[in-house]
Amino acid sequence: MAIRIKTPEQIDGIRKSSRLAAECLKYLEQFVVAGNTTAFLDQKAAEFMKEHGAISATRGYNGFTGHICTSPNDVVCHGIPGPYTLKDGDILNIDCTTVLNGYYGDTCKMYTVGEVSEEAKKLMDVTRECLRIGMKECYPGNRFGNIGYAIAQHAHQHGYGVVYEFCGHGVGVKFHEDPEVSHIAQKNTGKRMRPGMIFTIEPMINTGKARCKIDKIDGWTARTIDGGLSAQYEHTILITDNGCEALTDVYGDF
Ligand code: MF3
Ligand code: CO
Ligand code: CO
Repeated sequence: MAIRIKTPEQIDGIRKSSRLAAECLKYLEQFVVAGNTTAFLDQKAAEFMKEHGAISATRGYNGFTGHICTSPNDVVCHGIPGPYTLKDGDILNIDCTTVLNGYYGDTCKMYTVGEVSEEAKKLMDVTRECLRIGMKECYPGNRFGNIGYAIAQHAHQHGYGVVYEFCGHGVGVKFHEDPEVSHIAQKNTGKRMRPGMIFTIEPMINTGKARCKIDKIDGWTARTIDGGLSAQYEHTILITDNGCEALTDVYGDF
């Protein structure tokens, strides 16, 4: 399938939705404390989106029940908000996708609960660097494979596993559009980026093996196969005439 080139009107709508998704992640920071459940975070996210005239893209998506994804510690992605109670030392990913006036904005980042281990801090730092390194490959004429190539090089330098079972994706008019943006790829492969394309980069990096297993009971929660920690950061990226703009990078905090 061809990769959609967004119109100025679509870009404007996606920009607004992306800003709101980023604001939602910022709003949730105050609630990521020991003793709170991930269901409580979900409730706060639902309230925030409603107040701002948006809905969640994830709630009802193939039966997913959360307004956000909440993925602690060894959960790679797609954690379902529920009774899990945050405790000191946890790391947590919150992934927020908003639909505002029909347009999608998609972003995620890591949170810490109290003091976390040096191992966790380093994993989060390197994962954030992976997102930034991927963004450096975003300019007209470059190939999508170079994003994954650069990300994997960096993660592997630190001995980390790069999740290959979940990818970034075109986004904006629909939740998941073409192309798939792999976080591990061969150099100079894939289609070329063009101004007006909008897609996510969302590397999931593991301290141990790259492999994931999906929870047999809930059918969603993806965990590391070896129980190692996993981290993820995500921005919605617009290709511009001379580079890119991260539409969800409202605070510059990752
Ligand atoms: N927001 C996730 C992404 O970055 C997708 C979550 S799908 C869900 O693509 F169903 F798990 F919510
Ligand atoms: Co995404
Ligand atoms: Co997301």
